[in-house]
Amino acid sequence: MSANLQWGGRFQAAPDPALIAFGSSLADDLVLAPFDVQCSRAHVQGLRGGKILLQAQADDLLTALDRIAAEIESGEFSAFAWNCGAEDIHGAIDARVRELTPAGEQLHTGRSRNDQVATTLLLYAAERAENGKALVARIIGRLLDYAENELKAETLIAGTTHWQPAQPVLLAFYLGAIAEAFNRDMHRFSETANKAMEACPLGSGALAGSTLPLDRKVACASLGFREPTRNALDAIGNRDGALDVAHAFVRALVDAARMSEELVIWFTPAFGYARLGDTASTGSSLMPQKRNPDPFELVRATAADLSARYAGAVSSIATLGFSYHRDLQVTKAIIIAIVERGMAALGAFESALSHVTFERERMNALADANFTVATDVADALIANGVSAREAHAAVGAAVTRAEEEGRGLDSTDLARMAEEAQLSGLEAPLTAQASVRAKKTFGSTHPEEVARALGTLRRELEATS
Ligand code: ARG
Repeated sequence: MSANLQWGGRFQAAPDPALIAFGSSLADDLVLAPFDVQCSRAHVQGLRGGKILLQAQADDLLTALDRIAAEIESGEFSAFAWNCGAEDIHGAIDARVRELTPAGEQLHTGRSRNDQVATTLLLYAAERAENGKALVARIIGRLLDYAENELKAETLIAGTTHWQPAQPVLLAFYLGAIAEAFNRDMHRFSETANKAMEACPLGSGALAGSTLPLDRKVACASLGFREPTRNALDAIGNRDGALDVAHAFVRALVDAARMSEELVIWFTPAFGYARLGDTASTGSSLMPQKRNPDPFELVRATAADLSARYAGAVSSIATLGFSYHRDLQVTKAIIIAIVERGMAALGAFESALSHVTFERERMNALADANFTVATDVADALIANGVSAREAHAAVGAAVTRAEEEGRGLDSTDLARMAEEAQLSGLEAPLTAQASVRAKKTFGSTHPEEVARALGTLRRELEATS
């Protein structure tokens, strides 16, 4: 047995090094090092609380753990971890503690890597969920800054469905829509962080609890969990908190990807709605004129990749009975990859977003084109007593005529429709600006509604972040 494997007493043959290498999770769980140290500190409290350790032993262990925390912080611990022959971060920290103090032989008393991994992952999940929340809060802040500016300018765009011109909306309304999606993501991160700290698995042992009088309440309180888990078997196989943080990152990234998709199209000269500054653009090694929006494309692909990996994480659990199975090491690796890459992608999205400028004239011009006011004209007929079906047909016919004549809907169309409907006259918005200003419903693209919604979101952002 290698000195730093945490098992092997019963085996007469040494393990196959290739299989040990295959089973190592160090490459994936090194990032958990600071959380394992926290978890180990709490375990020392639980051991001491149960009088399983002498105070001097507890003190030595805590001193060793402090030193390891500093080594992790400075980056020097990873070389030790890779060289010590341990098969995961938990074994590596245990090995270093044993190297630093004879009391190290006691650290794993009453503990299994099963309750240790479960606890460490929850601490990681809670901390990373807070990071995700902060990243998303910055994205919302940036969207609101843009939206407030564009509201002042009353910039209009042709809102689309199916990517076809649909109805005019304020650019601020569009930006507010994305900010709302990120606001839900921010709350999801908050709830995830909060839920991760609900119950502490430490002291659950391998699956059945312990015959040693571990003080679970002290260990739990020292980590900031609200209570110890109620069922040891559930505690060691439960990955809900870790899956939730991965899910929260995937969902935020999907929103970033959806905006990225629109921006990539908006940056094309054919659309000409927006421009990405030099700082965030990339060039071509062959075509000297190119300016490419790579960060947004990478965000888009990362969202797709991590969504698929999330499905993999969930699937890796679906086949497992309750309790710990080594498959959960793969689940853990997927979750960590999602979270770490998710953080990087959200950070990149936010900084690339800061280099976007909107081409107001182009947007305003297209907001008026392609009969985007047709629905409002139909609404005007309906408001004058015409049925919805008749109004729809009448405006449709007017659009066909105007299209043939190469013009937009105008007052002649209104006069004709009024006559056909036996009305004395008809007034309806014929420009994009008139269209948004004519909106009457709560949550609409009317400038006052947009101002109200953005204001509410701004206050909510300030209160939550
Ligand atoms: N490296 C393992 C993991 O991350 C540690 C847990 C091992 N537990 C066990 N019962 N073999 O899941």
